[in-house]
Amino acid sequence: MTPFVDLKGKRVILGVTGGIAAYKAAELLRLMVKEGAQVWTVMTKAATEFVTPLTFQALSGNPVRTDMFSPLQEGQIEHIALADLAQVAIVAPATANFIAKLAHGIADDMLTTTLLATKCPIVVCPAMNVNMYNHPATQANLHVLKERGVWVVEPEEGELACGWEGKGRLAELDTIVETARCALSPQDMVGERVVVTAGPTWEALDPVRFISNRSSGKMGFSVARIAKRRGASVTLISGPTALKPPPGVKFLTVESARQMRDAVMEHLEEATVVVKAAAVADYCPLEAKREKIKKESEIWSISLGRTPDILSEVGARKGERILVGFAAETHELISNAREKLERKNLDWIVANDVTYPGAGFGRDTNKVTLLGRGGVVVDLPLMSKDEVAWAIVDKIVESRRCARG
Ligand code: PMT
Repeated sequence: MTPFVDLKGKRVILGVTGGIAAYKAAELLRLMVKEGAQVWTVMTKAATEFVTPLTFQALSGNPVRTDMFSPLQEGQIEHIALADLAQVAIVAPATANFIAKLAHGIADDMLTTTLLATKCPIVVCPAMNVNMYNHPATQANLHVLKERGVWVVEPEEGELACGWEGKGRLAELDTIVETARCALSPQDMVGERVVVTAGPTWEALDPVRFISNRSSGKMGFSVARIAKRRGASVTLISGPTALKPPPGVKFLTVESARQMRDAVMEHLEEATVVVKAAAVADYCPLEAKREKIKKESEIWSISLGRTPDILSEVGARKGERILVGFAAETHELISNAREKLERKNLDWIVANDVTYPGAGFGRDTNKVTLLGRGGVVVDLPLMSKDEVAWAIVDKIVESRRCARG
């Protein structure tokens, strides 16, 4: 298994330049420290006009660099030491001036010098006035940075501190942190177009009632997040959940099994990988009443019919695609899952013992066994759903390599 990547234990440079969003960098730092990262902040002189270095020092527990000429440790060339030590560098907010300097190799302060010297991935998060952002000079500079492999986190649209409306607000902090995780991860899913399903389906009885199950969507959302983190382009088709979709993922919501089937089929042509983590209802009411059903008799019987088996339909049109199904089981885990693997024509099935403490519906952790064709069995311990998703993506990468020969 390739090592799981998040920010835990990672050495991060946080560059802060002089924009009004500089105050948000303090919260960004806090989020990264909370995840277990070690962060060293480097501020431009202008940034110190907005927030004091002491804030970043207190939150990170590390000294803050603002100056090239007063090294914190005698005998060390500060910017080189920092550049060599970092595993990822994030600049948030990044001003138009900083972006121009980085694009042109100008190294006239501690931040630009350190970034010119580092070999680690760089994440740049622009935040500025909409006209400055749209200016051809800024756009050309960002283009240069992207071409050079710098990760640029596009700013968001909205009301700007300068009074203008438009694109220029610092991206959401979750998106910035996720981009840092992407920058640290193997990009072995680039070129794959992954369709993931997640969550439950709701099968309507009447306008207010439905039949459903306990799926929260967490497992499927994790698969979407990790496939994206490793470079895939991802479409997440989800039944009703309370979750926020992972950044950078195309997100579609559906309610019923029928709607999920239609959405999957609509995206099947373009998909190179399909992962079906959704807990799709197997049965739905034969008829959904148009009006609320009245409470009349003591016993209420409902007639149910089969829903479309989406995975079987995808399996029948598999082609070169890699297909991964899930099997939520309460008994005979391996034999039941293997039967589904064969019958639905899958490459992998994730056998999910939903009776295991801490595993299955609604939990943040899961306990699964991955079953592949030809009798492959990978029994995984209880782990976070993101880690389970990482192991699944490993198997997808492995299958693709085998298929390419
Ligand atoms: O969402 P969480 O709270 O994080 O919980 C995660 C989970 C327990 C829902 C997930 O890990 C899981 O096991 N998902 C599959 C649940 C399920 O429906 O299993 P199944 O054995 O009934 O279905 C087998 C496979 O066929 C699944 O990939 C399912 O998506 C698919 N299927 C099932 C019925 C149907 N009509 N169409 C389908 O495509």
